[in-house]
Amino acid sequence: MVRLPYLTALTTLFSYGLLFAFGQLRDFFRKIIDWSKSSSKDLKGYAPICLGLEDFYTRRLYLRIQDCFSRPIASAPDAWIDVVERYSNDNNKTLHRTSNTTKCLNLGSYNYLGFAAADEYCTPHVIDSLKKYSCSTCSVRVDGGTTDLHTELEELVARFVGKPAAITFGMGYVTNSAIIPVLIGKGGLIISDSLNHNSIVNGARGSGAAVRVFQHNNPLHLEEVLREQIAEGQPRTHRPWKKIIVIVEGIYSMEGELCQLPEIIAVCKKYKVYTYLDEAHSIGAVGKTGRGVCELLGVDPADVDIMMGTFTKSFGSCGGYIAASKEIIQYLKYTCPAYLYATSMSPPAVQQVISAIKVILGEDGSNRVGGFLIDLVTPGAQKLARIRENSNFFRSELQKMGFEVLGDSDSPVMPIMLYNPAKIPAFSRECLRQNVAVVTVAFPATPLLLARARICISAAHSREDLIKGLEVISKVGDLAGIKYFPVEPPKHETQGHKELE
Ligand SMILES: Cc1ncc(COP(=O)(O)O)c(C=O)c1O
Ligand SMILES: *[C@@H]1O[C@H](CO)[C@@H](O)[C@H](O)[C@H]1NC(C)=O
Ligand SMILES: *[C@@H]1O[C@H](CO)[C@@H](O)[C@H](O)[C@H]1NC(C)=O
Repeated sequence: MVRLPYLTALTTLFSYGLLFAFGQLRDFFRKIIDWSKSSSKDLKGYAPICLGLEDFYTRRLYLRIQDCFSRPIASAPDAWIDVVERYSNDNNKTLHRTSNTTKCLNLGSYNYLGFAAADEYCTPHVIDSLKKYSCSTCSVRVDGGTTDLHTELEELVARFVGKPAAITFGMGYVTNSAIIPVLIGKGGLIISDSLNHNSIVNGARGSGAAVRVFQHNNPLHLEEVLREQIAEGQPRTHRPWKKIIVIVEGIYSMEGELCQLPEIIAVCKKYKVYTYLDEAHSIGAVGKTGRGVCELLGVDPADVDIMMGTFTKSFGSCGGYIAASKEIIQYLKYTCPAYLYATSMSPPAVQQVISAIKVILGEDGSNRVGGFLIDLVTPGAQKLARIRENSNFFRSELQKMGFEVLGDSDSPVMPIMLYNPAKIPAFSRECLRQNVAVVTVAFPATPLLLARARICISAAHSREDLIKGLEVISKVGDLAGIKYFPVEPPKHETQGHKELE
């Protein structure tokens, strides 16, 4: 829950009001100038192709701080990255790359387990697969696009998440946006968490099913909506819904919050409706053996009908999966357009996921010496312990400093609330100046008033990295005035220090 302070809400609204007013004023003058030039040569009878409030937002708000976004990098998204320096000759309207880069601490990538950079086990396997299979299959799955790697991956993913079968796609976004319309259509009902990812929103819209939204992560409200919808049935005809699917995420990527999965599953079982769980940010990242929120929260995967996830975060690759019953997966393979008409996942990307899962499972040979199984801490287990310790350390230190940090413990995603639009570039630019690369997010990815910086912690970060990051964020936080909830200084000065060391 955000605890937006009253005064901050007021100043934030005022800032947006001011930006909006000046933007409108500038648009107004621009219109007069265009009009006085008489021939509006842009249009020539065509309706304008770009218009609307979001276009206004882009031109008058986003463009003013666009140097904080889409920063090119010139390295793997490891604990440290090379950020390409840019310059502008027109007040940041256009930005140009230089050949210089700056080494920065990376607090922005979804590299939860550290598989994004070269890995002792994964990288050689990926290089071999590149030599053997090349970058692309140049074919869709049902033609020539299914390699032995693809089938191995699907079996492995199913086993890893604890479902009978799985299907994979070349892109996580498409996995949601193309699968949802296959699972449900006209006469069906989707009940969606209010903060679900855009890929789910677009999949739901494209499906033709009715969509109802329940309050973010609130099982009580979900039950209320469900009961009402089941009683009402379809609009006008009041026929019963053909089917109902509830869609939630494991970890909400803009909030860092864990899903209230056990409670939500209980509600869904009570009303006999299907559940669809997007584990993009939680698979690999949480749970004792990396199996996601089901493992962390003690939910039997058999109770989740459709388990979705992506390979773009914890596994350091690309693509997405759906894991479900054999029957559902077979149905998807016969009918899903993204399976039938899109070129299959790149084989080296497939190999990367296979290798990463094997490391996580300890099946990379690291627990065998001379053919004997031995009991020791595998690199995979180390990574899992590391991401958890790193995340919990970073989160508690940020909270001690007085930042408003969203999300739950164990979650590697931790948004720091900025609120005020002026604080977005202030925070981002000042961190970058001190060699810490952070991601800031604002409207339309978040509600207008709730701009934030989103920190993503990785198993690749060392304790020194995290301490450096905390020092810089603390300094910049003082400068930008975003320590909204100052905590009492500890009685014994040394105590706080010790923990940092
Ligand atoms: C919850 C969720 N689902 C789906 C996706 C899309 O996955 P991809 O980026 O792999 O296309 C994302 C991406 O960040 C996500 O956060
Ligand atoms: C342009 O970007 C630079 C670097 O991020 C920043 O320091 C500067 O203030 C920006 N200029 C304007 C006019 O916004
Ligand atoms: C790259 O950095 C060096 C040293 O800071 C500087 O002298 C040079 O001008 C920079 N080059 C560009 C293209 O910005």
